[in-house]
Amino acid sequence: MSSTPTLRSAVGPWVDGDRFWNRDHECRRLIELLDEGASVSLIAPRRVGKTSLMREVSRRLQDRYVCLHLDLESAHTPAEFFAELLSASHVHTSAYQRLLAALESLIVRVTEMKLAEVTLNLRAHLTASWERRADRIIAALAQFDQPTILFLDEVPVFIHRMMCADGTQPTEAGIREAGLFLSWLRRALQTHQSHLRAVVTGSIGIEPLLQRVGLSATINHLTPLELRPWDAATARGCLMALANGKNVTFVSNAEADVVDKLGAAIPHHVQIFFERLLDHVRRQGVAAIFPKDVEEVYEKEMLGIRGHTALAHYETRLDHVLAPEHKPLALALLTRAAVNESLTLDEAMALAGDDFADIEDALVTQLLDILEHDGYLARGPTTGSYHFESHYVRDWWRLRFARMVRR
Ligand SMILES: Nc1ncnc2c1ncn2[C@@H]1O[C@H](COP(=O)(O)OP(=O)(O)OP(=O)(O)O)[C@@H](O)[C@H]1O
Ligand SMILES: [Mg+2]
Repeated sequence: MSSTPTLRSAVGPWVDGDRFWNRDHECRRLIELLDEGASVSLIAPRRVGKTSLMREVSRRLQDRYVCLHLDLESAHTPAEFFAELLSASHVHTSAYQRLLAALESLIVRVTEMKLAEVTLNLRAHLTASWERRADRIIAALAQFDQPTILFLDEVPVFIHRMMCADGTQPTEAGIREAGLFLSWLRRALQTHQSHLRAVVTGSIGIEPLLQRVGLSATINHLTPLELRPWDAATARGCLMALANGKNVTFVSNAEADVVDKLGAAIPHHVQIFFERLLDHVRRQGVAAIFPKDVEEVYEKEMLGIRGHTALAHYETRLDHVLAPEHKPLALALLTRAAVNESLTLDEAMALAGDDFADIEDALVTQLLDILEHDGYLARGPTTGSYHFESHYVRDWWRLRFARMVRR
């Protein structure tokens, strides 16, 4: 029997159990924080495995906590948040029953309704001055012997939608509503501290989003927990375990070449690379992956049109964290960092001064901070200059945008 562990591959959706690799430290830390009664903000750039970590921790905690997973991707309003809460609780019969009981004074004959009908009613009833009703709903969850954990995914997208109402830019009323909701959540978690916690995350950073509209203080009760890309050894272990599961082998340390090519071992990129390599060798009818296969697949597949589909969000997500008038400068800074492989602060200032009128130095530093916070750029510990954290994203960015810059 082989001593190499086996991992079932998965590209795209969240993973747990026998598809979940490593993250021992982060799982332990998150469980420790939740056991201490903390609510947590799980911070990581895209595709690093936030949703998977929450799912895996919830799998490990299901005997001790009621774990409710809310995906707020398409929610716009507090009422829709509670509709999601109700849907998430549906699999926990007693939690669902308690929530229905709390809704009895609001919706006539609610206990006789199917879930879809209740959520529809809820959307209509929790519009203006929803907070007191919301207090009653959340208090119902805090009555269990077992504490409840709300795993709240895609919170920044939800908050952004609320802030923008129907448009693409935050409005005053939208910002007020978002602030009201976040303050309500903080109050609810503090009121029911012994029986309720939340883990908040999303595929865009919440901090720059809130900072932009002066709402940062509404989340300062959350304990931050950072999730980084895998280190090289963990990523190599993952690749070998994936290969083991598919009866193929890496020859001449080709798995180390995969990690080198990626630069930052973002779990999703590791899994995509493996899937493409597997495809490539299977088409040739062989079961060994050589360094030359890694090279070929990187150039033709990872940087080709299929790679573009996986990475296009690096461009589009900038719209969520930047004001539209600042996006061209952010694109230019990133492109310069991709083409030259590094960018000093002086070069960034010069670029802004040459090509963008009326841009103040403080704004350039602010943009670089956001790009660093959101996982695009990292700063060299000795030089202090910026470079793309992921070589893969850098190479893709260069191919996509290099025509834009003067060298
Ligand atoms: N611990 C892990 N073990 C194995 N694969 C993982 C792990 N974490 C993430 N992945 C890979 O990354 C993909 C995306 O994972 P996940 O959805 O959890 O990331 P995310 O950070 O929530 O992404 P997004 O930023 O889009 O919300 C998974 O389909 C899987 O291929
Ligand atoms: Mg996710």
